[in-house]
Amino acid sequence: FSAFLTDTFGRRHNYLRISLTEKCNFRCQYCMPEEGVKLTPRSQLLSTEEVLTLARLFVQEGVDKIRLTGGEPLIRPDVLHIIAGMRKLEGLKTIAMTTNGMNLPRFLPGLQEAGLDLLNISLDSLVPVKFEFIVRRKGFHKVMEGINKAIEMGYSPVKVNCVVMRGLNEDELLDFVALTEKKPLEVRFIEYMPFDGNRWNFKKMVSYQEMLDHIKQEWPNLERVAGAEADTAKIYKVPGFKGQVGFITSMSEHFCGSCNRLRITADGNLKVCLFGNSEVSLRDSLRSGATDEELLQIISAAVGRKKKQHAGMFSISQMKNRPMILIGGLPRVL
Ligand code: GTP
Ligand code: 5AD
Ligand code: SF4
Repeated sequence: FSAFLTDTFGRRHNYLRISLTEKCNFRCQYCMPEEGVKLTPRSQLLSTEEVLTLARLFVQEGVDKIRLTGGEPLIRPDVLHIIAGMRKLEGLKTIAMTTNGMNLPRFLPGLQEAGLDLLNISLDSLVPVKFEFIVRRKGFHKVMEGINKAIEMGYSPVKVNCVVMRGLNEDELLDFVALTEKKPLEVRFIEYMPFDGNRWNFKKMVSYQEMLDHIKQEWPNLERVAGAEADTAKIYKVPGFKGQVGFITSMSEHFCGSCNRLRITADGNLKVCLFGNSEVSLRDSLRSGATDEELLQIISAAVGRKKKQHAGMFSISQMKNRPMILIGGLPRVL
């Protein structure tokens, strides 16, 4: 495995998340402020060619999984070209996408044809008015249609991301678990994380332990299922159910030790940790004509600065970080 992508703790970064756009057609409360975020001018975002050049470089060095994120990746006009271009890269085993699902019904056939392998879809409530309150837009039925269609088209496992917030959707945990009875979904309950502009506070976060206790009252036989080592989620299953339930415990039990991810923001910055605020511009180097070797030196230096783990729940809630929509956690359109 490439020394360029291995950090000082021996972590090999074979998974790259690329944000394709800062725009989104939703305004999720946990992700950004109501008024949206200040967008980078288009000329400063990575072009189709620049995205593909960086993808090629990282794949050449051992990246075998790329996840496209946003903003909402499905609002980028060249999204299918990008996927088709990546599909040609030898060594890239998996192309995945995290989307808010709103445009999925329309895009699914094209995505499958271009070669997309995996889909994670955000869904924070099963109650339409509550869903629309959380995302501050209409679209519940479209998202459900997208999820169902993705399953029908053979995407497996379709992962459903649910950010759990006290007083908002914590009362729906059992309904989400029930969804896994007949559908082969992996529902992932995500601990609410602090980012600039999302008005996080400790009381709004529902911890993994609390969610697990709650679900086990109804399903005492909930059993742990082994997952891949670098999984963000701890996975469980109700025996006999088709699907699974996962927990993403970024706040209460970080999983930095097995982190295999790097990310590139839509404006071309390499970010070695979701919670780190040091970034390096790959776009500027590309535009000033850097060779592959020079780019790799820059990437390698950034990877070398990656910390052992994030600074802990309280520190990260105090630090300045981009809003999630600008990091590429999530997806949705303007
Ligand atoms: P898989 O490839 O299916 O494992 O996807 P994923 O869970 O990494 O990606 P997704 O975009 O679906 O994100 C789900 C949740 O995991 C979001 O809340 C992300 O913010 C969180 N997440 C993604 N990457 C990281 C990371 O590097 N560190 C931490 N702490 N959380 C992450
Ligand atoms: N806390 C936890 N998860 C978040 N996401 C976005 N913002 C937050 C947050 N503050 C999730 C979205 C999306 C995924 C990529 O990141 O649910 O599915
Ligand atoms: Fe919601 Fe994702 Fe859009 Fe943020 S980027 S507002 S989480 S849909």
